[in-house]
Amino acid sequence: MTVKTFDEMYREWEENTRQLLKKYPEQRERFETLSGIEVDRLYTSQSEDDVEKIGFPGQYPYTRGIRPTMYRSRNWTMRQYAGFGSATETNKRFRYLLDQGQTGLSVAFDLPTQIGYDSDDPMAAGEVGKVGVAIDSLADMERLLDGIPLDRVSTSMTINAPASVLLAMYIAVGEKQGVPADQLTGTIQNDILKEYIARGTYIFPPQSSMRLITDIFAYCAERVPKWNTISISGYHIREAGSTAVQEVAFTLADGIAYVKAAIEAGLEVDQFAPRLSFFFNAHNHFFEEVAKFRAARRLWAKIMKERFGAENPRSLQLRFHTQTGGSTLTAQQPENNVVRVTLQALSAVLGGTQSLHTNARDEALALPTEESARVALRTQQIIAYESGVTHTVDPLGGSWYVEALTDEIEQQALNYIDRIEEMGGAVSAVEQGYMQREIHRAALETQRKIESGEEVLVGVNRFRLENEQQPELYQVDPQLSREQVNRLQALREKRNGEEVKRRLAALKRGAEGKANLMPLILDAVRSYATVGEICHALRDVFGEYQPSV
Ligand code: 3HC
Repeated sequence: MTVKTFDEMYREWEENTRQLLKKYPEQRERFETLSGIEVDRLYTSQSEDDVEKIGFPGQYPYTRGIRPTMYRSRNWTMRQYAGFGSATETNKRFRYLLDQGQTGLSVAFDLPTQIGYDSDDPMAAGEVGKVGVAIDSLADMERLLDGIPLDRVSTSMTINAPASVLLAMYIAVGEKQGVPADQLTGTIQNDILKEYIARGTYIFPPQSSMRLITDIFAYCAERVPKWNTISISGYHIREAGSTAVQEVAFTLADGIAYVKAAIEAGLEVDQFAPRLSFFFNAHNHFFEEVAKFRAARRLWAKIMKERFGAENPRSLQLRFHTQTGGSTLTAQQPENNVVRVTLQALSAVLGGTQSLHTNARDEALALPTEESARVALRTQQIIAYESGVTHTVDPLGGSWYVEALTDEIEQQALNYIDRIEEMGGAVSAVEQGYMQREIHRAALETQRKIESGEEVLVGVNRFRLENEQQPELYQVDPQLSREQVNRLQALREKRNGEEVKRRLAALKRGAEGKANLMPLILDAVRSYATVGEICHALRDVFGEYQPSV
């Protein structure tokens, strides 16, 4: 293969950029500093070796970002995770945040919805509408999205075990708004492996869960082509106490397992891989976080090209959402959390995130109030519109420190991935408890450092305040839960019970067979079968996951 000169590679990148600018022009004619100094689109080494390893933005291996112009053409999506109480309450918060300048939606569901129980199920007692919005049926989904144009707003849904059911409800709401499924944009988290590893909202055993996940891949590739079918998550792995290296390694190992499962289900890699997406944490240690994102992008590009032979450039591009680290928020001196979140958000932006959630200062204590949620959004807006960091692509690229950290994180993560592959892959490693043990070991080490004072937590183990006043906190109204149960019982009386029974019986028969379950789940949802009823039908066939560790 002839080695290209720097000039040849640079000219190729410039041509790529010119093509892209026709569809995504930059946000201004001239980018400059406050002193009027022009800011170039890209600053780069002139050495072929550097360019060979790091590449140009928007070109393989994407170390510097997945798009040639990045935020000069379009800022990341400001996508605040929100949801509590009833669908109507949450719809109000969605509209408020959109009015305040948020550019994408992100739905937090309550635990009963996430583990497939209806609000009137005894298992749901005390949790209805508590950590997210209660969604029992299509009627609730219609209320949640009331007045929100699904052909113009992209929506992320943090739902895993019953992901297929909530996706079906979203498609059904689109039908009622007259928006065809192929115009819907958004993401479903749909990542069950990290639930077994770290988060816990699983229902079915691994094989049945992987089938539901690859059914979504296949269904969306054909019917909902703009939908991101999975958000392979490192966020919760990090929240459970992993290191940055483990966060990258275990997340990409999960990604490899999903790609393999889809190929085994008969899908071509370039048919589904462009719609895989990722979700990472933005934690403390600013430069390690920036390097972590860059390493993850380069590693995934190589994995998809070299291990799976993916050819579509979009199959090689690791697109990700970031949430600032919830576990770094302190209950003490909550105003300090605004500073933590700002630094973490900045690391995500300098790491090239596509979408971002910034935590509110009071979230170590309660769900955010409207005011604290607004300040969290303003944090992103100040970074986007006042800091100047969006004016050039990958501004920390070429820093000796950042590039060295990027290389080291990539190598250490690859060592972990190779070990997991030797164990038979992520599903097997999860069943052996390997990742869980590695995370617990890292978490214990961190806790030891905090308790010894070796790791400083401002306001917690140093710089404490005596007699702190607690700020005003959000309170979930207990009445909301009773109202939700009443609504659900009224729905059950009003709907066509025989139609629901027929749809649930058809779903059970489908689950006993091999066909893609999405069409049957969609039929059940359209008949106003509930999340609990649909998940119980699947439990009857698949059983429930019983963790071995
Ligand atoms: N140049 C050219 N094109 C550009 C561009 C640029 N600079 N910037 C954007 N675009 C285009 C893109 O091509 C894209 O179009 P496409 O879909 O046809 O490619 C469009 O503009 C939208 O841009 P992005 O895809 O970059 O941004 P999105 O916000 O739409 O998608 C994502 C981002 C990461 C791919 C997506 O998967 C996403 O939004 N994920 C969010 C996940 C999320 O919010 N999770 C929250 C979980 S909360 C949780 O779990 C924690 C709790 O448990 C505590």
